[in-house]
Amino acid sequence: MRIRLIVDTKLTMKSTSAKLLTIAAALIVGMASVSSSARRAQNPTPDFSHNTWDLPPDADKAKNPTAATPESIAQGKELFMSRKGNCVFCHGETGTGNEANLPKLRRKPANLADEKRMPHLSDGEIYWKITRGITGIMPSYDEPRLTSAERWNLVNFVRTLSAPKKPT
Ligand code: HEC
Repeated sequence: MRIRLIVDTKLTMKSTSAKLLTIAAALIVGMASVSSSARRAQNPTPDFSHNTWDLPPDADKAKNPTAATPESIAQGKELFMSRKGNCVFCHGETGTGNEANLPKLRRKPANLADEKRMPHLSDGEIYWKITRGITGIMPSYDEPRLTSAERWNLVNFVRTLSAPKKPT
């Protein structure tokens, strides 16, 4: 009889603390959802779907001051692949797009290896696209992020991604 009583008390204590825990958890979840919906109301998810390039009208005419030497291309590649430029995060190593990250991106990156499209872009246009980016879609690489010389090296490297492949 005595043993039973003790067991009963223990059980009741257990279930009381379990109830308290449940209430506490419910309160926390409730508070979290209230504050996140309040945040959403203040900052609705911005709509980036219409954002586009804000290039100077004469972007096309900007002349590339950097010859596409192997050194310039190598430096551009280094920026493209490394964390400093991190173009690879969206565009992938070959320029066709980083498959692994596509689901995380708001917009599908342009195919920088497109042999039909890329030759129609002047060096100036590529330079300005890298410089300005598109708000919420592609970062701007203007100073202080990258120097102008670094961006021209990137232009020279980006060009190589769409160079016609030599038959192997
Ligand atoms: C966060 C993802 C992201 C990063 C990082 C990124 N881009 Fe882009 N890039 C895009 C998207 C998306 C587009 C297509 C935008 C559009 O046309 O609407 C694009 C377009 C471009 C274009 C224009 C191509 C065309 O056909 O007009 C160039 C050039 C380019 N990126 C180069 C770069 C370079 C070089 C870097 C690194 C310095 C870089 N991008 C980093 C997402 C990215």
